[in-house]
Amino acid sequence: MNFSEKLQQLVADLDQEKASTAEETEQFRIKYLGSKGVFKALFEDFKTVSSDEKRAFGKQLNQLKSTAEAKFEEMKASLNASTTATKPHLDLTRPGSLFDIGAEHPISIIKREIIDIFHGIGFSVAEGPEIEDDWHNFSALNFPPEHPARDMQDTFFVKNPNGSDDFVLRTHTSSVQVRTMTEQKPPIRIIAPGRVFRNEAVSARSHCIFHQIEGLYIDEGVTFADLKQTLEYFAKEFFGKSKIRLRPSYFPFTEPSAEVDVYWGLENELDHRITKGTGWLEVMGCGMVDPAVLASSNIDPEKYSGFAFGMGLERSAMQRFQIPDIRMIFENDVRFLKQFQSAL
Ligand code: DAH
Repeated sequence: MNFSEKLQQLVADLDQEKASTAEETEQFRIKYLGSKGVFKALFEDFKTVSSDEKRAFGKQLNQLKSTAEAKFEEMKASLNASTTATKPHLDLTRPGSLFDIGAEHPISIIKREIIDIFHGIGFSVAEGPEIEDDWHNFSALNFPPEHPARDMQDTFFVKNPNGSDDFVLRTHTSSVQVRTMTEQKPPIRIIAPGRVFRNEAVSARSHCIFHQIEGLYIDEGVTFADLKQTLEYFAKEFFGKSKIRLRPSYFPFTEPSAEVDVYWGLENELDHRITKGTGWLEVMGCGMVDPAVLASSNIDPEKYSGFAFGMGLERSAMQRFQIPDIRMIFENDVRFLKQFQSAL
C-alpha cells in the first residue's frame, strides 16, 4: 500500500470504530493515538513521502488525527452520560432540603404569647421610642424632680446635639402610656412591649437592657375590680395559674398601686426555689392611673379613669425555659436560640 492508499484505509477504519465501554474507549486510544499507534507509524512513514506530495498528504494526515481525537472525546463523553443515567443518584421524588430559617427568640415567644392573650380581650399593641424625653419618661408620669429613679444610678442620659440633655434611654415602657394618651381619645386599650434600659451592673440575674410589657385601659367608669379581673384572666392564660393576690405598693403614676403575685404552688423543688419557699411569685406592678397623669396627658380625670400594669419579660422567659443566666438572652448564640418553643 502506498501512502495515499494507507490514508484512505484509515478513513474507512476510523469510520467503523465504536466503543460502548471504558475498556473499548481505551483500546481505541491505544490503537490510534498511543505511542505505538497508527498515527505514530503514519507520521514515521510520512518522512518517506516525496517532497511534492508532502503538502497535500501532511494536511490530510493532520485532519485525520484531529478526527480521531474528536472521536475519542466523543466516546468518553457518551460513556460519562450513560454511567450517570444508569446510576440513580438524582432522586427527583426526594423532598427538597429545607432552608435553615433560624428560631424564635425566647423573649419574642413570651412577647407574642402575651400579645395574643390581650388581643383576645380587645387590647392592641402600641409603641414608643427607646430614646425618650424626660417628660414622657418621668414628668408626665408624676415623678417629682428629685425622685431617685431619675438619678444617674438608674438612668442612661443621652446628650442631644443641640446641647439640651433631657433625653434618656427609656427606663420603663410606662412612657408609652403617656404617648398613647396624648395621641388617642378614650376608650384606650393598649399593651406596649419594648426594650428598656437601666444603668445597672450586669450579672447572671440582672442586665442593663431588658424587656417590659405595659398595659393601659382608660374609659369611663373603669374600676379596680376591672384591673383585678383582667389580671386574673391573664394569670390563668399565661401562667396557667388561677390564684393571684395584690399587695399594696407605690408607683408615682398609679394610685392606689399594687404588686401582683401569682400563686405558683409548692409542689416540687423548683416551685420552692422560684417562690423562695412561699408559693407566691411576684410578676408585675399595677394600679389605677393617677388623676394627675391623666390630666398631664389631656384626659379629663373627672370623666375618665383607668388602670395600668407593667411586667418584665426576662424573668418569665428564664422561668419558662429554665435559662440560668440573663446574659444568654442577649448573646444570640444560635445553639442557645434554637432550643425554645412556645407553649401555646
Ligand atoms: N414602670 C414600672 C417599672 O418599671 C412598672 C409598672 C408598675 C408599670 C405599675 C405600670 C404600673 O404600668 O401600673 O418598674
